[in-house]
Amino acid sequence: MKFMQTYVLGIDVGTGGTRALIMGGDGRVLVSATAEHEPFASPQPGWAEQRPEDWWRAAGIAIHKALATGKLRGEQISCVGFSGQMHGAVMLDARGDVVRPALIWCDVRTEKQCRELTERVGAEQLIRLTCNPALANFTVTKLLWTRENEPENWKRVRSIQLPKDYVRFRLTGERATDVADASGTLLLNVAQRQWSAEVLQAAEIDRSLLPALYESADVCGKVSALGAEATGLSSGTPVVAGAGDQAAGAVGMGIVAPGAVSATIGTSGVVFAATDRPALDPRGRLHTFCHAVPERWHVMGVTQAAGLSLRWFRDQFARVPALDGRDPYKQLTAEAATVPPGADGLLWAPYLMGERTPHLDPAARGVLAGLTASHTRAHVIRAILEGVAFSLKDTFAIFAEMNVPVKNIRLGGGGARSPLWRQIQADVYGQQVEIVEAEEGAAFGAAILAGVGAKMWPSVDAACDSVVHVVERVSPIPANAAVMNAAGNAYRRMYPAMKSIFPS
Ligand code: XUL
Repeated sequence: MKFMQTYVLGIDVGTGGTRALIMGGDGRVLVSATAEHEPFASPQPGWAEQRPEDWWRAAGIAIHKALATGKLRGEQISCVGFSGQMHGAVMLDARGDVVRPALIWCDVRTEKQCRELTERVGAEQLIRLTCNPALANFTVTKLLWTRENEPENWKRVRSIQLPKDYVRFRLTGERATDVADASGTLLLNVAQRQWSAEVLQAAEIDRSLLPALYESADVCGKVSALGAEATGLSSGTPVVAGAGDQAAGAVGMGIVAPGAVSATIGTSGVVFAATDRPALDPRGRLHTFCHAVPERWHVMGVTQAAGLSLRWFRDQFARVPALDGRDPYKQLTAEAATVPPGADGLLWAPYLMGERTPHLDPAARGVLAGLTASHTRAHVIRAILEGVAFSLKDTFAIFAEMNVPVKNIRLGGGGARSPLWRQIQADVYGQQVEIVEAEEGAAFGAAILAGVGAKMWPSVDAACDSVVHVVERVSPIPANAAVMNAAGNAYRRMYPAMKSIFPS
């Protein structure tokens, strides 16, 4: 018999597009392909909606593209894993058709529903049951909004899914989810890794609407004949549950055991720590969710406008001529590198989109403080890079209060690609930071989970040990770290000083 090398496929249903990544049994990425989504619709301020059918269309294109580029046949894929944007509310009718566009993670129209649910359950009891407070990002509040404002639509709802789980449903016909992604619904008892009967009752949501729950690397279905036809995969290919994008991204960076922490600067910034218990912040400033590994959890703090701060500056004040082929971010960070650490006293608070951690304040606003006539554009850019790092450092400070250990910090996203931003992060965190080889994000983590499901490795820990490699370490420079410490103390005084002038 001819030896046939097997591969696994990771699918990440993001906001901008769906990515399909194929990994070999040796842990190497063979190919990845992306298909863009329609941009999300925002019919009113604070609203964000996408059509789930469009994610399925994009998944079909991305999977076909990845198979074709990798010159593989569907039967060479031995298992499929999923990752996706979290918190979205996909509502299906009795036939499995989408009832209305999904309210996605950044939709924050549900402040009223958050308040009402908190009053009904009690703020402390809600944190006790779900490990988290009611935030407008979380799925349950989106369901309550639909029931209240669109009763005709709600009457037809027979099934609720998260974004990646809708793609799984189309691929397999199964209604399934994983405990990591389910944590972001506020309907999960995160400590017990089960749907919360108490919250379901308080929210008056029928348990039968929810999908079956699995651990992330568990096989939960097989590709159907219809799914195979739409994607080029083979019918009967097993599918694992997968995880929300943050937990899957952490798996892809090897952040699975207590002590391992990542700091990822994308549009938003996330500091993520793996834990062996559901570590709670009684003030709810961090999210406490199940991890994609059995009997592990994670805590994460979110800076709403991290990379977005730099993109905003570029778009508004530093548009580079289109014909100049150089990466605009490289030009901006090269400019910032000409200015000393501390940006000669200039400070940036990155609250362009309000803030989650540590303030939980949608009304917070961005601040550039300490300007003098001698400051230049380069100072502003440096202040932005430093301000984002100070904001991520706030999460490390809360970890310390909660006794969450921080042994290794791995950097991800754009903040890991810029040498200056790496050094700034090491100086601000006051600790060595690590850079990993495969910068493939959540789709890579989804493929690793599929590899565990396919028994290529006995556990997620074993898979990460074998496929995630540190390629560079950056240590703090003591003199810079001392300047950053002082600047960080000033940064932390900005929010309380400015709060009274933010809109109420
Ligand atoms: C996590 C979060 C985002 C979304 C979109 O809490 O809101 O990471 O999953 O990617």
